[in-house]
Amino acid sequence: MKRATKDLPKITTHVLQEMKLKGEKIAMLTGYDYSMARLLDESKIDVILVGDSASNVMAGHKTTLPITIDQMIYHASSVMRAVQRALVIVDLPFGSYQGNSKEALHTAIRIMKESGCNAIKLEGGEEVKESIDRILSAGIPVMGHLGLTPQSINKFGTYVVRATEEQEAEKLRKDARVLEEAGCFGIVLEKIPAGLAEEVTQSVKIPTIGIGAGNKVDGQVLVLHDMLGINTDFSPRFLRRYHNLHDEIIKAFLAYIRDVKSGDFPNDREQY
Ligand code: KIV
Repeated sequence: MKRATKDLPKITTHVLQEMKLKGEKIAMLTGYDYSMARLLDESKIDVILVGDSASNVMAGHKTTLPITIDQMIYHASSVMRAVQRALVIVDLPFGSYQGNSKEALHTAIRIMKESGCNAIKLEGGEEVKESIDRILSAGIPVMGHLGLTPQSINKFGTYVVRATEEQEAEKLRKDARVLEEAGCFGIVLEKIPAGLAEEVTQSVKIPTIGIGAGNKVDGQVLVLHDMLGINTDFSPRFLRRYHNLHDEIIKAFLAYIRDVKSGDFPNDREQY
C-alpha cells in the first residue's frame, strides 16, 4: 500500500547530525506497537524510541526494570513493520548490558537482527563505556542517556530532578564527553536543570534530546501515552499534554456499552 512517507528519504543518524548543525530541532516520541507507529511515521516524526517505558505504559509495571529482551524485540518488530521514514531506536533493557560488555554486544546484535531497528539506546556514562565500545565496534549506532536514568531507580530512590548539585552536574558533563568521544550519535538528557542541559548541548557536537531538560537542547522526546493524555495519573512539570485521550476513549467505550445494552448496535445496516 502506498503511504505518504514511502518516497521520503529515511532519517538516519547522519540526518540527525545535520539537523543539529542546521539548528533544526529533532522531534522524537516513544512508540511500542504497529498501529501507533504507523500514525507516528505518517506524521513525519523524526525519531521513534521503542523505550523500555513499555514496561510501564504497555505492561503496567511500576518501573522499567522487569521488561525482557524478548519483550523489547516484540515491541520493536511491531514498530519496524509500520515505519518507512523515521529513525527507530530501541532501549537495551535493564540487566542486559550493565557490567558485561560481551552480553551487551550480544543483546544489541539480537535486538537489531530480530527487529530490524536502526540503533539502540542505553543508560549511563563512564560505567557503561566498555559496553558502548563493543556495540559500536559491531557497527551498531548507540545513543546515550544521562541525568535521570530510570533503570537506576533503586539507586536513586526517587524520580526527582537530577544533577542539581555541582558534583553530579560535573559527572554528567564528563559523561557527555565520554559518550561523544566513544562515538555515540546522540544523548538523551532526562530531568536535569535547563542550564546544565544547554551547557552540555553546546559542549558536544552530537545531538542532545531532552525530556524535562528545557528548550536549549537539540530535540525533545516524550512518552506517547503521557503526551496523548492516556495516562492521567502522571503529571510532571515537563509534560505537555497534547490531547485528553483518556476522556475520549472512555466516552467511546461508554457509548458502545450503552448501544449494546439497549440493542441499538448493530442496526439493520450493520448486519448481513
Ligand atoms: O524509555 C523511555 O521512554 C525513555 C524516554 C523517557 C527517553 O527512555
